Amino acid sequence: MEEVIKIEGGRSLSGSVVISGAKNATVALIPAAVLAQGPVTITGVPDIADVDSLSRILELLNVKVFRKAPDHIIMDPSEMRNIDLEDDAVTKLRASYYFMGALLGKYGYVRIKMSGGCYLGPRPIDLHIKGFEAMGATVDYDRGCYTIKSDHLHGARIFLDISSVGATINIMLAAVLADGRTTIENAAKEPEIIDIATMLNKMGANIRGAGTNVITIDGVRELSGCFHEIIPDRIEAGTFLIMAAASASEMKILNVIPKHIESLTSKLLEMGADLEIGIDSILVRRSKKLLKAVDITTKPYPGFATDLQQPFTPLLTQAEGISVVTDTIYKERFKHCIELQRMGANIELPTGSAMIKGPTKLYGDKVTATDLRCGAALIVAGLIADGTTEIHGVHHIDRGYDRIDDKLRALGASLHREIVE
Ligand code: EPU
Repeated sequence: MEEVIKIEGGRSLSGSVVISGAKNATVALIPAAVLAQGPVTITGVPDIADVDSLSRILELLNVKVFRKAPDHIIMDPSEMRNIDLEDDAVTKLRASYYFMGALLGKYGYVRIKMSGGCYLGPRPIDLHIKGFEAMGATVDYDRGCYTIKSDHLHGARIFLDISSVGATINIMLAAVLADGRTTIENAAKEPEIIDIATMLNKMGANIRGAGTNVITIDGVRELSGCFHEIIPDRIEAGTFLIMAAASASEMKILNVIPKHIESLTSKLLEMGADLEIGIDSILVRRSKKLLKAVDITTKPYPGFATDLQQPFTPLLTQAEGISVVTDTIYKERFKHCIELQRMGANIELPTGSAMIKGPTKLYGDKVTATDLRCGAALIVAGLIADGTTEIHGVHHIDRGYDRIDDKLRALGASLHREIVE
């Protein structure tokens, strides 16, 4: 027995959609809360399974979690205790590794299972480990668990070989209470990193340079509780923009920071989409014009986001000409293309890229979401396909998209969930 999403394709959408708080900020802000002495309140929390898994981990640590509303969490770590994190909740998502930096910073000791999350090809964490070691920690790995400890965690100058989002955040979390100054060079510049630094600074941390490639953290003695509102999810906003463009719909995207997805909107404009970009909204105007093929290459921010590469592919099947998609972050992030081929897409898959010939008609079929953004790609495809698309593996989608069914139905899409054998 399995839950699937069934979509009746071919409907044009209309109306507005409000974007939720950013998943990839939320999943770091929640572990960051354990660094405080008092309650941390976060609003704009997306209602996604990753938040449930992180809340479960907080409860194991005896952090009191109050969910006043689905998007409003209060976390009180004043009576927390540091226990070994070997629960299955840790393996349900990637971001559980942020407890490494946070618990190491607070207690000088953490034992935690290897985290899980989407398989996008190899996802090593060597840069996180190198950062902790440079700060004076020892790191051991046995029976699927990391043990990281330090009697005296101190500041260090750390150069990241790759601008890793996860390593940048994890090192920041370890450094805020460490002794002295930590400098992260070649740091990632994603907006989510600024959001984490902003919340940590509200808690009393001393972080400068977040959003640039050099971040400086001067350790402080303790951190207090705070109130923080999460930035909008640029990947969710981008996914809805793509859905609107693919289905020739009129859609207004609200609660978005357009600058965060300029690499996407510039490509949509190049393809011929009709967009009106406001201060915190983007309007996609209905257009019957055939879109033009474009090439995309994923890059760290502000380049084209790898997380939007997958949802963008079904849109390219509707564009005239040959488009080449290259993923420089995750060379194997192309499983969605196999599912799209099943639906009629004309895609060739040389190593590390996809070559899409369009326009082609897509037909509903049984397809499987093998990871979160593959699921988003299949929803985009299902919305424009002829007939019914049955999407399996929906738990991947529920890990990262807040009430996506409700939001789509409100825009006029025809979809529902069903339990199938
Ligand atoms: N990398 C290493 N060593 C490391 C860390 C990373 O070689 O120690 C490599 C990775 O294998 C990858 C590249 O560096 O090739 C970038 O990885 P990064 O660390 O930046 O990715 P991440 O922190 O694991 C976050 C998002 C991903 C998003 C990537 C890239 C979270 C929880 N996840 O992952 O989001 O794709 O950054 O922007 O923030 C998603 O939301 O669907 C998702 C997968």
